[in-house]
This record gives sequence, C-alpha cells and structure tokens, in this order.
Amino acid sequence: MRWAADRWYTVGDSFDKVTADNRYFTNAKLAPYSALYRILYMVEQTLKVLKNTKLARGTYQLTLGAGGAFALTAGQFINIRIPGRAELLLKRPFCIASAVRETGVFTVCFVVTGKGTEQLSMCAPGDLLQADFPLGNGFTLMPSHKNVALVGGGAGIYPLLAACTMFRGVSFHTFLGFRSAEYVCLTQEFESSSQTFTLCTDDGSAGTKGFVTYEFEKRLKSGGFDAVLACGPQPMLAALQQIMRGYPHIYAQASVEERMGCGVGACLVCACAVQRGGKQHNLRACKDGPVFMLEELDFSAQNSRAHGSASNQTKGDTSCPT
Ligand SMILES: Cc1cc2nc3c(=O)[nH]c(=O)nc-3n(C[C@H](O)[C@H](O)[C@H](O)COP(=O)(O)OP(=O)(O)OC[C@H]3O[C@@H](n4cnc5c(N)ncnc54)[C@H](O)[C@@H]3O)c2cc1C
Ligand code: FES
Repeated sequence: MRWAADRWYTVGDSFDKVTADNRYFTNAKLAPYSALYRILYMVEQTLKVLKNTKLARGTYQLTLGAGGAFALTAGQFINIRIPGRAELLLKRPFCIASAVRETGVFTVCFVVTGKGTEQLSMCAPGDLLQADFPLGNGFTLMPSHKNVALVGGGAGIYPLLAACTMFRGVSFHTFLGFRSAEYVCLTQEFESSSQTFTLCTDDGSAGTKGFVTYEFEKRLKSGGFDAVLACGPQPMLAALQQIMRGYPHIYAQASVEERMGCGVGACLVCACAVQRGGKQHNLRACKDGPVFMLEELDFSAQNSRAHGSASNQTKGDTSCPT
C-alpha cells in the first residue's frame, strides 16, 4: 500500500525541510501511518537508469538521471528501493561514486552480495528507480589540505572516487585494495584524478601483493600527506586507525557502512559507536555519518560493519529486517 504525497519534493530538498513542511500530518487519514510513511516514502525521488555497466566480477555501475541539478558532497549516499521485489522492504544504501551536479546525472557502483544487489544488477536503461538522496554527511577537507591520501578497499573505493573528482585544488594519492585481479575496477578513473596511484591485491594477481594499509603505511612517512580519507571493510579501517595513531597531526576521516533501516535517522538500526569528548556515543551512521573522524570510531564495540574486499572483511550481524 502506498499513500500518495500531495507534493512531489524536489531533488535536493533536505529531509528536515521536507518534514518541516509537515503536510502529511494535516491529513487525518494519514496520521496513524505518518511515522511509517515518513520512513518509507517521504523523500523518495524517481530516477531513470541511463546505463548499467559490468565493471568486474559481480561489480556493476549504474548511471542514473535525477532529471535536474542537485547539491551533493563526496561521501554522501543514496538509498534505493529495490525494484520488483516487494518483499525487500528496506531500501539499500550505496555511495554516490561520481556526479555531474548541473545535469543530475550520477553513478553508483556496487558488488552483488544478496537479493537486492542482484536485482539491481539486472536494471536496464529506461528502468525507473525510487530512491532517497543525497543522504548523510560527506567528507570534508580544509583549505590547508593540499596533499590528500585516499585509502580504499573493495566496495569502499566508490565514495573515494567521488572525493578525487569533486574536491578541487587538491593532489590526491590513491591506494586501492581488492581481493584479486578479477575484482579490480575503476583504476583508470582514479589514476586520471590522482597524482600517484597504488594498487594492491590480496593474492598479488594485480598490483602489489598484500593489504592496502601496508602499502599506505610504507608511503606515510615520506608522503607529506595533510589528510587521509578512507572507506572499506571494518578490519581495514581498524588497521588504518592504528597506523594513524602514530600521526595524530594528520587529519583523517572514514566512511563507515553499517547495515541500515530507514536511512534517514528514524530507526537507529545503524547505530555506530563513536568516542567523543571522553564518552562513548551511539551515533546514527545514516544521519550523523556515514563519514566520521577516523580516531573517533570505536571498533572495539564491534558494531561497525563495512562491506567490500573480502580479504579481511568480517561479515556483520544480518539479523535486521530485509
Ligand atoms: C552508507 C552506505 C554506503 C554503501 N555504499 C555501497 C557502495 O557504494 N557499493 C556497494 O557495493 N555497497 C555499498 N554499501 C553496502 C550495500 O548497502 C549492501 O551491500 C547492500 O545493501 C546489500 O543488499 P543485498 O540485498 O544485496 O544484500 P542482503 O541480502 O541485504 O545482504 C547480503 C549480505 O551483504 C551484507 N550486507 C548487507 N548490508 C551491508 C552493509 N551495509 N555493509 C556490509 N555488508 C552488508 C549482509 O551482511 C549479508 O551478508 C553501502 C552501505 C552503506 C550503509
Ligand atoms: S538507518 Fe534508520 S536511523 Fe540510520
């Protein structure tokens, strides 16, 4: 069942702006369903699939048209309703990998891990998708950050592509890790936007053999980096946090990829342990993140689940509803 909105919110309307409008509360019939309505449908937009490209083994890139310009920062994400699978109640979150803000054309890339991503991999040009976007807080860099390292693993590389194509006046040094050569993708896109580029695979079938954090650490002393932006499986981020403890003067941010429910801050499925001001806080990855300062993330709480390279990935609790 779907209740029709009496207003079609435009691309770029924030969730707060939409709820501040409060229009649906004025309809007595909708009032009992308002919380559910808010979670499921309130900020949905229609997107057109323009292209579906297979990038690597089980890895796809969807080019989507929003039909108009929208504001976006690198690291923000989109929550997509899975088409044709009514039993998959929850939308699936994906980072925006690249975007032309003026035209509203953007890409998301994903690795097939379950029913939702499998269904998305079958999308064809012309298909319409329903989604909420752009959501969450993206990466931030200061004007003094001129030499920035990007460290990504597996499916965690996509928001870093957005970073290296959207931030201007910055030299990027990219370090990417994959399970093996058959999963390697988007290297040309990264290479063309980076001053230096390092590729690692767990089995050495492409680039250097070994974990990406190891290659990054080797370059850290001489690299002269003023900032690090990262995304990848939780063990990769935990290893990076450990390394960066030796370099507290270097600004470091990481995007976490918790399992999500509503994607807009209402259900707390995505609670993520963060140490701030000497206290532990459970913040919402969808609304307060997904980008956090790396040193704040509390991996010992074992509640931060990331996706991507299987090399050192631990699968998270899958008990939340689909
Ligand atoms: C903010 C955010 C951004 C993301 N960006 C991307 C992206 O750009 N590209 C991409 O490929 N994936 C991304 N993910 C992960 C992606 O959302 C999941 O892979 C997807 O929801 C799985 O849906 P499914 O129905 O195919 O799998 P399901 O049937 O729901 O689950 C299948 C398997 O995938 C695992 N899984 C499900 N959700 C997650 C998750 N959030 N993190 C880690 N493992 C998960 C489950 O534990 C399970 O083992 C992102 C997640 C978040 C929270
Ligand atoms: S997914 Fe519902 S609060 Fe974050």
